Amino acid sequence: MTSVSIGVFMGKLRAFESCENLSAPTLETLSDSIAAPMRVEVRAASENPPEADVLAVPVGPNGLPSTAGSLDGHVAHVAEEEGLAALPGQTAVIYPSGEVPARRLVLVGLGPEADLDADTLRTAAASVAKTAERVGGSLAWLLDDSLPLAHDEQARALVDGLLLGTYDPGRWKAGASGEPPFERLILVGSDDEGLREGAERAATVAAAANRARDLANTGANELTPERLADRASALAGQHANLSAEALGPEEVRELGMGAFSAVAQGSHNPARMIVLRYEPPSPAGDIVLGLVGKAITFDTGGISIKKALYMEDMKGDMAGGAAVIEGLGTIAELGLPLRALAVVAATENMVGGGAYRPGDILHAMNGKTIEITNTDAEGRLVLADALHYARELGATHLLDFATLTGAMERALGDLYAGVFGNDDAWRDEVVAAGEASGDHAWPWPMHRRYKGYIESAFADMKNSSVRGQAQPTYAASFLEEFVGEGPWAHVDMAGTGFFTWPRTDYLAQKGGTGYGVRLIVELASRLAE
Ligand code: BES
Ligand code: MN
Ligand code: ZN
Repeated sequence: MTSVSIGVFMGKLRAFESCENLSAPTLETLSDSIAAPMRVEVRAASENPPEADVLAVPVGPNGLPSTAGSLDGHVAHVAEEEGLAALPGQTAVIYPSGEVPARRLVLVGLGPEADLDADTLRTAAASVAKTAERVGGSLAWLLDDSLPLAHDEQARALVDGLLLGTYDPGRWKAGASGEPPFERLILVGSDDEGLREGAERAATVAAAANRARDLANTGANELTPERLADRASALAGQHANLSAEALGPEEVRELGMGAFSAVAQGSHNPARMIVLRYEPPSPAGDIVLGLVGKAITFDTGGISIKKALYMEDMKGDMAGGAAVIEGLGTIAELGLPLRALAVVAATENMVGGGAYRPGDILHAMNGKTIEITNTDAEGRLVLADALHYARELGATHLLDFATLTGAMERALGDLYAGVFGNDDAWRDEVVAAGEASGDHAWPWPMHRRYKGYIESAFADMKNSSVRGQAQPTYAASFLEEFVGEGPWAHVDMAGTGFFTWPRTDYLAQKGGTGYGVRLIVELASRLAE
């Protein structure tokens, strides 16, 4: 089955609605109970300090911000004494009495000018929030005209730092709340309505990234493929022009998804191919953004079983799928004028009497055959059918997110994801959206000769190579066989999607990071212009 019209496929999808009715989820996922994002207010700069529970004063390379006004006299000596200008993320707390209408004044260092970027502000904001978390209420932040970032860029970074930086992965501990620490953010320096809107939008996106983190951190006993499908359905219920469907094991087999089915066959928890469609009333152009996600709710490695150490982190092997679901939900929440769809392949990769084996030869939905040489290279198999399906559903531009190879984590660590593509311009748009959003991404090369290393004696290709070389690139070359005609890019987020060890900046929590949500919304915003 190589080319089937979209109409035929949508017909099939509708036929399955009766048995997979997602409009009435039976189980509530953790993410459904999350609080609304922070409210944002803007104030023009004035001589007197603003009223707030917490007042944050960034100390940059040029000293106190231009908006400090009369505060200067109260705090300049503290900044000086503590050497804050040279210490990024370092805070000093003052309990003001009298003239300053705040319960806490928190000074925070930004460090040298050469290193000052949006990430510096994200980390500074996270540091302030953690310092004053127990105060709560409202937080006022003094914007600074002398920084190399415009007000709107500062605001966006602050919101990221405040919301992502205070995320608590200990949601299953007694007394955990999951609420953001501040209800209100007051930006001081301009009363521009555009500034307020941009910051509120950033709060919406960060809240979605935190929900993706919840999904990644939830154990695979609770976050089954069905529960992930419930989450997609809940989003569709919340937002206009967004619809959700999910195909079960029977439907998936009938459609010929032999690669996805093989990975799914070893699990007692039934698989779901989750489809979300966003159809805004007046889209800006002809593009249909097709987001594809790997959602292995637990990756044991299968018969080619993994080692025990850190295997628990493989509950996060669905982080790509979570980013795609929450990312598309946010596109709909913001009402972006861009047609978009998501296909998320959700299954466990388990061991057992029913599991697929090395030596099995699979028939993918696009007609190509695959020899299994390692059942732990399962991500590319589920993506093979998901990518082909997304194209069949009408995606003009494909973009997939996957925790695909351990070698990507070894290569780029916890900061950059690697991006591959069959179209340099499209790949570079993805990289640029990543950089602008804080989800750092770096381009990797592809070349047809890499395909030589996944040649099989029996089938059109094999799913892994024993060579200890270029594993992320072999995986991307494999995926390319299933993307059909048109631009496609692949984000290997194995190192950035789920942290075994916390990072030293604003993302200082173990576990899910929400990687991809900010990138997706930034890319979609650019495409919708
Ligand atoms: N989910 C893993 C990749 C992974 C490893 C993500 C560590 C995050 C952290 C993937 O399914 C996998 O097992 N890949 C194998 C492929 C190999 C067998 C060709 C790998 O990278 O070892
Ligand atoms: Mn694996
Ligand atoms: Zn995996």
